[in-house]
Amino acid sequence: METQVHPLDPLSKAELEVVVAALKSELGFGRQHLIAMVQVEEPSKSELAKFKLGESIKRAARVTVLDKSNCEVKECVISVDGVVVSTKVIEGAKAPILSIESALAIAAVKADPRIISALEKRGIDDVASVQMETWSIGAQIPHHLDDGRRLIWTPMWWQPEPQANFYAHPIAGLHAIVDLADFSVVEIEDNPGIAIPQTPGPYRESQTGASVALKPLTIHQPEGVSFALNGHHVSWERWNFRVGFCQREGLVLHEVWFDDDGALRKIAHRLSIAELVIPYGDQSQGSYRKNAFDTGEFGLGNYTNSLTLGCDCLGEIVYLDVAVANPLGEVREISNAICMHEEDFGILWKHTDVDGNVEVRRGRRFVVSSIVTINNYEYGYFWYFYQDGSIEFEAKLTGIVLTLADHVGADHHSATELEPGLWAPYHQHIFCARLDLDVDGDDEGSTNTVIEVDSFAHEIGPRNLYGGAYDTKETALRTELQAQRVIDPMVGRFWKVINPNKRNHMGKAVGYKLVPGHTTYPLSLPESVIGQRAGFMFKHLWVTPHQSSEKFPAGDYPYQHAGGAGLPEWTKADRQVHDTDLVLWYVFGTNHIPRTEDWPVMPVERTGFHLKPSGFFRRSPGIDVASSPKSCH
Ligand code: CO
Repeated sequence: METQVHPLDPLSKAELEVVVAALKSELGFGRQHLIAMVQVEEPSKSELAKFKLGESIKRAARVTVLDKSNCEVKECVISVDGVVVSTKVIEGAKAPILSIESALAIAAVKADPRIISALEKRGIDDVASVQMETWSIGAQIPHHLDDGRRLIWTPMWWQPEPQANFYAHPIAGLHAIVDLADFSVVEIEDNPGIAIPQTPGPYRESQTGASVALKPLTIHQPEGVSFALNGHHVSWERWNFRVGFCQREGLVLHEVWFDDDGALRKIAHRLSIAELVIPYGDQSQGSYRKNAFDTGEFGLGNYTNSLTLGCDCLGEIVYLDVAVANPLGEVREISNAICMHEEDFGILWKHTDVDGNVEVRRGRRFVVSSIVTINNYEYGYFWYFYQDGSIEFEAKLTGIVLTLADHVGADHHSATELEPGLWAPYHQHIFCARLDLDVDGDDEGSTNTVIEVDSFAHEIGPRNLYGGAYDTKETALRTELQAQRVIDPMVGRFWKVINPNKRNHMGKAVGYKLVPGHTTYPLSLPESVIGQRAGFMFKHLWVTPHQSSEKFPAGDYPYQHAGGAGLPEWTKADRQVHDTDLVLWYVFGTNHIPRTEDWPVMPVERTGFHLKPSGFFRRSPGIDVASSPKSCH
């Protein structure tokens, strides 16, 4: 089958190279410039509908360019055949941290005589044995207000030997603040007095000799896989969707449809994790600034892993490669970046009848996943498609907890002592999913309304004779301010996105419900700097009318932003969000109180949500699943 390039496909290496060439030849991209971000310029829903009818659409990239000479940020839309479509200066925006800037900043700090001498005072003679990270400043800059500069700061660790886990040896009280415009070290914080913890934290097999082994487990599909990939379009079971990728968000899914007995029914237009912010809840000098926006301040997709068959992914795997442009405009392909496979997921359903007849179906799910490494942490994004018509997202968190040093047995609140003098501060990982749903809509969008459903008991009386009866209360969320909601497990709260114009066989509006999973609520105070900058995290649910320009819940450029951007700002307009083409934003995450068992590498923690059909189908789509093997009924 011929593979057609679709307007929503990720930008290929060849396309990115043309875009970069045009940036240089047409827009004077030169030595004073860096590429801060590249995104697919996604066509609108109506343009996509025309594309399906055979009209051509010019694919394009939206490139954010940083001018180092004045820190100006400019967005340039360039078609993949090298035509400049538009350019626009983004007033007041600060570019995210770029990999090359991190490297230059670290080199500048390592060469600074004040740092060298501060390290010597701590017994470290060889600056090469120090590992530094560059962290966003979080707008929390002591001694002077944010004066407009782009700054980073550098937590550091000692690495006694090249392969040692350096997070076991944090260097307390020593940081540099670097101006990214000229890589000058603006300030050095040096508060000696805390010893470097000495207990090693080995985790490599070559160091631990890990010997607990099981017999091999092989997943083999002798007749091949049950899915088909055409370019970036996936069809599996009754599902159809497109796989996308963006240097900012990483894995993105587009145009999700389900084949309901021959009728293709749309469920979502675009699904992504639009932001991930990690506020640290420790106020010691090495921690209080740690509140990175891994998506908006670092560009999470840039750090996508190349996955290994049999290790990251087990079974009959199909991979997709992706391409990214680095700040200098060099294009790099990440092979095996997106993993797709089927996996057995236990039983889908079962019943033993009174006559002894047993019906049981094994469930299988389709998995699309990718993993990123940002400094100490790994994040896996896993989307699951199920045979009951549901979709689940699961974030897998692993890697190494961030560490700091304090006196052995210190009265240090907000952190766990993992080994003598080695502390892991409390923190939260807060994700924001942008769910551009089109429940039973069409190519142009959908008319949807969000309903909040709570369960409750009436007082004892005619509607609750014995005290055990309970009811549900449905509230339509009609405007943006009304639609800012929090979870409430005590009333079994869920949210249902209905299409009031499409009725099921019982005359009820068809819908999909969002079922919250394990989650958290921010512990930072709303008036704190991080509370202001990540204002979206104080509600689990937001609903906005569909606007393709509203993609990121903390705004397009959260780096050192003073706060208030994104969802809190847009929703002040209190736009109508019922009976319209809407976007659901779901905020979820984990509250990480580190355990000693999270050291030296944290076993996977999970958080996510489930989208389940709710009155969408006449009956369970699982009924149509044939038994396999045939002896299961
Ligand atoms: Co954590």
